[in-house]
Amino acid sequence: MSREEPMDGRSGWLDTGVFAGQVGVVTGGGRGIGRSVSLSLAAAGCEVVVADVDADLAADTAAEAGERGGKARAATLDVTDAAAVSAFVEAEARVDKVVNCAGMLRAAAVAELNPVDWAAVFELNVQGVLNVARAVHPRLSASPVSAMVNIGSLSGTSAYPGGGAYGPSKAALIALTHQLAAEWGRDGIRVNVVNPGPTKTPLLVSTQSPGAVARREAQSLLGSIPEPQNIADAVLYLLSPGAAAVTGQALNVDCGLSQTVMDGPASWSARS
Ligand SMILES: NC(=O)c1ccc[n+]([C@@H]2O[C@H](COP(=O)([O-])OP(=O)(O)OC[C@H]3O[C@@H](n4cnc5c(N)ncnc54)[C@H](O)[C@@H]3O)[C@@H](O)[C@H]2O)c1
Repeated sequence: MSREEPMDGRSGWLDTGVFAGQVGVVTGGGRGIGRSVSLSLAAAGCEVVVADVDADLAADTAAEAGERGGKARAATLDVTDAAAVSAFVEAEARVDKVVNCAGMLRAAAVAELNPVDWAAVFELNVQGVLNVARAVHPRLSASPVSAMVNIGSLSGTSAYPGGGAYGPSKAALIALTHQLAAEWGRDGIRVNVVNPGPTKTPLLVSTQSPGAVARREAQSLLGSIPEPQNIADAVLYLLSPGAAAVTGQALNVDCGLSQTVMDGPASWSARS
């Protein structure tokens, strides 16, 4: 039996209007998971600032959110530029929600990865999130409904050959999430991380062969891999009042892929 189809650009479970009157910033909101998060947040009543280093992608997402009846603005922002991030946040009078989606993968064996690429991955996946977190802390402290969600990865908890700096950077991001949750809890700011498994973004579909995607699907407990909307749905839950007591947590959204390490009696007897 196939999984229930996610609703593109709209949370499949959250009533519209939950985030009405609030302002949310989504980094990397121009494409992939960030785009789905931006559209879903806007559909749920949030005024969304789609912040992306690619101005055209940011504008496209913001325009689409508007066409669907939501409120969204595009901002061109490189999250690795700390001064630019500070200026961007200072220009926003109010920020209630932040979703850090901007991230990158440069695949290579660790021993062969050149130091520039190693540093670039950490610069975006870890320092970029820290830049945003530092700048936005005063705004989030001032909001009675503040929450941040970072987008980690299953690669932050388990490795595969050729993953390079990506897994180590996502492990650091998961630890940074725990750290921020510990330090900001008494300011009323919840901070959580969603760890997607391989997700059907344009990037994944264009870089992995259909055979590789099919193998992942066959391996997972649900026989599929997530759509970007599945990740957005988890993010919206963590931002919502329904998660009011949830902070410092990592939520795997992977169709059960992370639970497939062990096998059982069926495969033991098949081998004998
Ligand atoms: N797609 C997957 O299978 C998968 C799995 C696990 C985790 N993730 C994580 O999810 C997040 C989003 O992944 P995606 O597949 O949607 O990626 P994507 O490449 O499709 O989108 C990333 C977006 O970030 C923007 N961006 C890149 N550098 C930036 C910068 N310096 N400042 C601001 N924006 C910048 C890009 O322009 C792009 O719009 C990433 O953190 C990624 O590591 C993805």
